[in-house]
Amino acid sequence: MINILAIPTEKYASCVDASKRVRWDIDRDIIRGRDFEMDRKLLPDSISGIQRFEFLDPQEARLLSQIQGRTYANMFGLVERFINCKVLELSQHHWTGDQVALEALVRFSDEELKHQELFRRIEQMIAAKMPPGYHFVPQPNEVANAVLSKSTWAVLGLTLMIELFTQTHYLKSIQPDQECSALYKDVFLYHWKEESQHARIDELEWVRENAAISAGERDSAVNDMIELVAAVDGILRAQAAADVAYFLEVSGAAFFEENIARLRSETLSAYRWQYILSGAAEPRFQKILRSMITEDQLERIEKALAPIAASVTVGA
Ligand SMILES: [Fe+2]
Ligand SMILES: [Fe+2]
Repeated sequence: MINILAIPTEKYASCVDASKRVRWDIDRDIIRGRDFEMDRKLLPDSISGIQRFEFLDPQEARLLSQIQGRTYANMFGLVERFINCKVLELSQHHWTGDQVALEALVRFSDEELKHQELFRRIEQMIAAKMPPGYHFVPQPNEVANAVLSKSTWAVLGLTLMIELFTQTHYLKSIQPDQECSALYKDVFLYHWKEESQHARIDELEWVRENAAISAGERDSAVNDMIELVAAVDGILRAQAAADVAYFLEVSGAAFFEENIARLRSETLSAYRWQYILSGAAEPRFQKILRSMITEDQLERIEKALAPIAASVTVGA
């Protein structure tokens, strides 16, 4: 790829500064010898949407929040696999160029490796406190290989969406919540701190990549982005089904068929909002996307999102 857009060093330098300023350690800063308080919810209702299940008693609602919260942490561990691969790949464009930009990407990669370790630790800690049978369906390396087969432009767009909604979910829902586990809230407090500069780097790299590709390449990259969203939706369908099956198995409750059907459809609806629509609606994502593509391309993306949006009944 020909690097035809020069991005000022200061933009990468401010990301490096932020990275140094907020740097944290999993045990020293987050876990601090604590464990998850399983008498509390994990994921806030404003993200999980479980308050809509009026037929659940408080214990059942808490269990469903914990299952969704466990999946939420695992989903970050999943996407960070492909995000880190892409960041390492992009770093080559700075190897013999701007060394500050290179440092920004190396730190980004290092942080995502640490985050993956954090989310693996969390999965082990939560697993130790819940009955067996939970299954996180997608395989990080398989998903990473599939995502990385698409164009860099599309992968960067998806990555920016994810790294922006991470921040919004924390600031609007997790931080103000009074009911959730304190350790769970801290996980996403510290994660948010390092994600802020990731989103800025995604933006810089996406704009740089956009300037380096032809109109034809961009047009097929738009199709790639649509295919990536469809692939994410496939993952969400499988995981929502697995999570509801686990909930029904361990809750020990006998629900009416119509309520089981609601659990299935509305859990998928919640996941679609969490991992696709809340990101697609991010103003920064929309602004950059619209500055890069034609009306026709935007229409194609919106048409692809429409059936997903139509099925979603939740939103924070
Ligand atoms: Fe992360
Ligand atoms: Fe990140």
